[in-house]
Amino acid sequence: MTDQKNTLIDKLPKAELHLHIEGTLEPEMMLALAKRNDIALPYDSVEEIRAAYEFDGLQDFLDLYYAGMSVLIEERDFYDLTWAYLETVADQGVTHVEIFFDPQAHTDRGIAFETVLGGITSALETGARELRITSRLIMCFLRHLPEEQAFDALHSACRHKDHIHAVGLDSSEAGIPPSNFARVYEAARNEGFITVAHAGEEGPAAYVTDALDILKVSRVDHGNHALDDPALVARLVREKTPLTMCPLSNLRLKVIASMEANPVKTALDAGLLVTVNSDDPSYFGGYINANYEAVTDALDLSITDIVTLAKNSFAASFLPDEEKQTHIDAVERHAGKFMRSAD
Ligand code: HPA
Ligand code: ZN
Repeated sequence: MTDQKNTLIDKLPKAELHLHIEGTLEPEMMLALAKRNDIALPYDSVEEIRAAYEFDGLQDFLDLYYAGMSVLIEERDFYDLTWAYLETVADQGVTHVEIFFDPQAHTDRGIAFETVLGGITSALETGARELRITSRLIMCFLRHLPEEQAFDALHSACRHKDHIHAVGLDSSEAGIPPSNFARVYEAARNEGFITVAHAGEEGPAAYVTDALDILKVSRVDHGNHALDDPALVARLVREKTPLTMCPLSNLRLKVIASMEANPVKTALDAGLLVTVNSDDPSYFGGYINANYEAVTDALDLSITDIVTLAKNSFAASFLPDEEKQTHIDAVERHAGKFMRSAD
């Protein structure tokens, strides 16, 4: 990649729309919180933790992801986790974030919903004040658990509509169709929540179609396998449904065989509203700019492609139209000097 593209990406204003806050738990913080909360971990050092991050696929990763969360106990743990993420991405040009959290992974361990939410939201408020990063929070249902338990999470979320904007669906995908969650999504929509869902990461294109038709999602998380179905691609383009793609995640979870096989460029060329995100940066080896750099390098993205990805990140966000435009104007201003000399 040219220095010019590197420099462009570095401080290019961008939104991150696919980020699991629990997936930002760095090994250093995992060890520090284990000590603070007197939790036993099967690791003694940062190196040992990092060495464990070799994944065969999504489920293999999820097993470690849920185990890592055991150190998150107090409200201040969730605050520290969220604050560390915001400080990292503030330095990478990020000015808006839409963050997932997995309450069932915590309430199942006896941590109160309000403890989780309180820590995350107060860090987001500090981030708005001190780092000028705006945010939305998306509560995910865990798809490996029964729909009744998703309803419990939804009931909790209904007490906090001021802080939770949307609901999503994550965790193990293979063999678990979106239709399993039709009722809880309908209830969530009736309560005024926007909906998104992970679909087509390991699951087939049909799961993306079902997420659109049954869960009525406004955005598809990952969506890689949507590209297997030309009619579905045409529909996503026509309906301007965003895809939140995660290149390093795809590579580390073996959704793609190599970074060159990443579908971001194909999706851009097809006219899809594709965005680039980090998913679980601590586990997958890079925050948002590392993801922009990896796809740029592997797919030889042009300056125009990179700028389109940044504009798409705001266009695909849940911000009001006026704010989207303000951010898109900021992308154009930042990119101006690069575009004039570009390809
Ligand atoms: N896929 C599904 N569930 C997840 C992921 C993911 O990439 N990250 C955290 N939970
Ligand atoms: Zn994800």
